[in-house]
Amino acid sequence: MTRITACETGALADGEALKIDTPDRQIALFNINGTFYATDDRCTHGNASMSEGYIEDDGTVECPLHAARFCLKTGAALCQPATEALRTYPVIISEGMVYIDLE
Ligand code: FES
Repeated sequence: MTRITACETGALADGEALKIDTPDRQIALFNINGTFYATDDRCTHGNASMSEGYIEDDGTVECPLHAARFCLKTGAALCQPATEALRTYPVIISEGMVYIDLE
């Protein structure tokens, strides 16, 4: 298993997202009402960055390119044009830090 350090919990405000580069992929980290979620950053429909999407209080993010919406908890695609789920990753909070398990 590969665990990466994402950021301090205080570094990502409520309702914001952060793109994290790893050696083999880009991850989007979201903070919604103090709960952190991690998904692949690239939309499953096209070349768009989900960390630049529109984050909703209901725990979803809307792709900035064609407006597909995804559940941040499960990654499920909730509307067209996306049909494939975003990959999600476990997030661990410990001593004020946010970690993401990649595998
Ligand atoms: Fe995300 Fe098309 S690139 S919905």
